[in-house]
Amino acid sequence: GTTLKASAAEKGRYFGAAVATGKLSDSQYVGILNREFNSVVAENEMKWDATEPQQGRFNYTGGDRLVSHARANGMSVRGHALLWHAQQPGWAQGLSGATLRNAAINHVTQVAAHFRGQIHSWDVVNEAFADGGSGGRRDSNLQRTGNDWIEAAFRAARAADPGAKLCYNDYNTDGVNAKSTGIYNMVRDFKARGVPIDCVGFQSHLGTSIPGDYQANLQRFADLGVDVQITELDVMTGSNQANIYATVTRACLAVSRCNGITVWGVRDSDSWRGTDDALLFDRSGNKKPAYTSVLNALNAG
Ligand code: G3I
Repeated sequence: GTTLKASAAEKGRYFGAAVATGKLSDSQYVGILNREFNSVVAENEMKWDATEPQQGRFNYTGGDRLVSHARANGMSVRGHALLWHAQQPGWAQGLSGATLRNAAINHVTQVAAHFRGQIHSWDVVNEAFADGGSGGRRDSNLQRTGNDWIEAAFRAARAADPGAKLCYNDYNTDGVNAKSTGIYNMVRDFKARGVPIDCVGFQSHLGTSIPGDYQANLQRFADLGVDVQITELDVMTGSNQANIYATVTRACLAVSRCNGITVWGVRDSDSWRGTDDALLFDRSGNKKPAYTSVLNALNAG
């Protein structure tokens, strides 16, 4: 293939990008998006603060705009993110206990039901594990409602949109480490107890190196009976950038249950990482060496 989406499709994978819907009026941005990508995810517009700014009053403007752009252009949509400790609306930040739990589960139900049938994979819960060596949960208002908040969210999401793959999504899970192993143990437990989980998202916000066991880590999750997806890929600029992008691409292709790759933005100027210049297109919209390296990796074999 000659584009990311065509080459990924030849290997049975999708190739996606995070989109800020405000940029859908930027013709250079949309030109690259429509040419190269066949999956999109809202960078912010499907998060809790955006979709339920006041309790029980839902706003789907941005999310609907993205879904409509995707449908018109033959793209599928990842959903991000139903529950997260960050980007909660102010009203939710002020709740606790059973009141918060009920509000959170209602949020999952309402949002998943609104987009029912239109999302290929939902990040049901985002970033619930702690960094460092504990392997345990991150403290948050949601976690303080009880350790079962994650499984309650997955059950509610399944009931609201039975056709979507339901993912757990996190960062700093790029190799076998305490955090990824904590998540691995949760997924194993969910599968054993019939909690509906279908996939694990590996954000893959990477610096100037990548753990040597990146692929093996994906594989150990796949071996639990879930799909894996690279969900927010971006890589620090520098002499390793193109190689790291290729390594991630090859790892996904080598793991049969890896469904696809999403990069967290289109051009370097669109990235949350600012001067890291972490994406595949430069600030003028030109293909970078990292782009060519991903395309070649997709086309290899
Ligand atoms: O909504 C306000 C807007 O009203 C205001 O005018 C504007 C002024 O700066 O700020 C807007 O909010 C910003 C929002 O993005 C939308 O642009 C927030 O300040 C800003 O913090 C927020 O950043 C997002 C960040 O998540 C928040 O945690 C980034 O765009 C987004 O790329 C980033 O994405 C996360 C994933 O969801 C989860 N994994 C990590 C990843 C990178 O941090």
